[in-house]
Amino acid sequence: MSMPTASRVHSPGWWPTKGDATRDSYVGTATCAKCHASKVATQQKHAMARAAVRAADAEILRQHDHLSFRLGPYREEIVTKGGKSVLTVTANDGAARLSADLLWAFGVGHMGQTYVYEKNGSYYESHLTFFSSSQDLNITPGQSLAPPRSLEEAAGRRMPPAETHACFACHTTASVINSQLDLSGAVPGVTCEACHGPGASHVVAMNSGPREQGEQLIMNPSRLDPVASVDFCGACHRTWEDVVTNIGLGALNLRFAPYRLENSKCWSKPDARLTCVACHDPHQPLEHDAAAYDSRCLQCHANQPGAKTSAGYRDSDHRDSDHPDSDHPDSDHPGAACPVSTKNCTTCHMPKVESSIQHSTFTDHWISKPLR
Ligand code: HEC
Ligand code: HEC
Ligand code: HEC
Ligand code: HEC
Ligand code: HEC
Ligand code: HEC
Ligand code: HEC
Repeated sequence: MSMPTASRVHSPGWWPTKGDATRDSYVGTATCAKCHASKVATQQKHAMARAAVRAADAEILRQHDHLSFRLGPYREEIVTKGGKSVLTVTANDGAARLSADLLWAFGVGHMGQTYVYEKNGSYYESHLTFFSSSQDLNITPGQSLAPPRSLEEAAGRRMPPAETHACFACHTTASVINSQLDLSGAVPGVTCEACHGPGASHVVAMNSGPREQGEQLIMNPSRLDPVASVDFCGACHRTWEDVVTNIGLGALNLRFAPYRLENSKCWSKPDARLTCVACHDPHQPLEHDAAAYDSRCLQCHANQPGAKTSAGYRDSDHRDSDHPDSDHPDSDHPGAACPVSTKNCTTCHMPKVESSIQHSTFTDHWISKPLR
């Protein structure tokens, strides 16, 4: 059974977004690279490794160094100059003005990028987000669409401390230390230790002790059962249980892949051939070629209507006439064949669906028969 992430992080042992480790138990990606160089080289190209950066390093802000947007009675600008990005809100009559230095840029920008700043000891989520589809600012998903009633409201939304922790725990590495937000040594983006846990003791053991001992000292998610494996990615992508208990069942849940996937008939029996890592290597950039996913489907589905479903008998010429029900799915290949096509399965069964709130598309992970 899928579990809420809150229960996973309160259980013993490492789980992504758990923030109880000490600063010196983290070693950083450069240290992992000494022994896992190829994994580091490819993981850095994944969007996750750039899920948040300090504002000074945000490519989008450098390329769009003067963004502006009119919001009811206010005008908002983000101006980037000399490695600094400043958010300014001005009343239309020019009478009042508020400004804040942006500290962090969240999101590599596939959908968009949202900014975080600090004021009087609290963190704020910017009211405006940069959207890639329009190459311009617009209201941050989840924030009020009503015209703001004050300069403060026009600038952003104050985040309660628990929410600030959650934001940074999902988008950065080693930013919650001893259960306190500590951005001094935070590593931008989701890097090795955000998923595998702090690595200091693994590194010490690999340098000195027996290898088996070192392997025990770092989490290897490939040993998780299929449900736990999906919940592992769900620590940030939200588990099925997180969506049911915290988010609700409206159209907004399209972006939560674990929830959608586990509702599929294909998942009626949890199976390692259909976990997130069956289709996505978290150390490699996302594959955009639909054909690359076909082999995943065909591990369970026959590839020709009427073909016997076990490997080696896909060709209908070899159908075994002594077994009239040989086209019945067997236990290893439980799924039927597609009556429509033999390739690019995901284009029809996992379509990209438009979301008006995010001004973007999401891949629907609820594998199903297309509506016709
Ligand atoms: C001094 C060399 C060294 C360093 C530094 C190092 N590792 Fe390893 N690690 C190894 C060796 C050797 C293995 C066993 C062979 C393998 O799986 O590559 C291993 C195995 C692993 C495994 C699989 C464990 C298992 O159960 O089999 C993970 C996950 C891992 N390392 C992650 C990391 C991360 C994350 C870092 C950085 C925080 C890191 N390693 C730093 C040497 C190192
Ligand atoms: C520590 C939090 C965290 C964990 C754990 C995590 N992710 Fe992510 N993932 C993110 C964030 C944040 C993004 C958004 C990155 C962006 O676009 O800025 C993301 C984006 C992605 C993307 C989209 C990449 C793209 O190019 O658009 C894929 C695919 C993905 N994750 C797969 C996985 C898989 C598979 C797992 C489990 C092995 C996993 N993630 C675990 C935080 C996490
Ligand atoms: C529970 C983990 C979690 C929390 C908390 C969280 N995010 Fe995310 N965020 C993700 C994941 C996973 C994705 C990628 C998949 C998706 O878009 O839903 C993402 C995507 C995004 C994107 C789009 C990235 C892109 O490339 O288009 C932005 C922007 C973003 N988050 C900003 C924030 C901000 C700001 C906060 C805090 C107010 C926050 N997120 C809190 C996990 C989280
Ligand atoms: C988004 C989460 C995530 C991130 C980030 C991540 N890993 Fe992994 N890693 C996994 C998962 C999940 C597995 C198990 C994969 C499987 O079962 O196919 C794994 C497996 C491994 C293994 C052992 C299995 C193997 O393939 O040899 C090593 C070693 C490893 N990761 C090292 C790293 C290093 C080094 C980094 C940083 C460059 C890193 N990982 C970043 C999730 C992650
Ligand atoms: C782990 C094995 C497995 C994998 C991998 C798998 N499926 Fe399935 N799939 C099943 C099973 C089992 C069923 C239910 C069989 C039935 O009801 O006859 C099913 C049902 C379906 C259905 C019918 C759904 C419905 O709502 O009626 C479609 C369509 C489908 N799969 C397509 C796919 C596609 C496309 C892929 C790859 C993206 C895929 N499957 C991957 C096992 C799998
Ligand atoms: C059967 C294969 C399959 C499985 C299993 C799967 N995905 Fe995907 N995923 C895809 C495909 C196909 C895309 C679209 C790739 C493209 O064209 O850009 C995608 C895209 C994504 C994206 C990018 C944003 C989007 O919506 O397009 C994220 C994030 C993601 N997957 C997360 C996950 C997570 C988390 C899991 C586990 C719950 C998972 N995926 C399981 C096939 C799969
Ligand atoms: C061009 C769109 C398209 C592509 C590509 C496609 N399918 Fe389908 N598939 C459909 C449609 C439409 C149906 C529903 C047919 C019906 O209900 O008669 C379907 C039905 C199915 C079913 C349900 C069969 C049943 O008997 O209930 C499965 C399983 C399936 N497809 C798997 C796949 C796999 C695996 C691939 C890739 C090898 C694939 N599909 C490629 C459109 C497509």
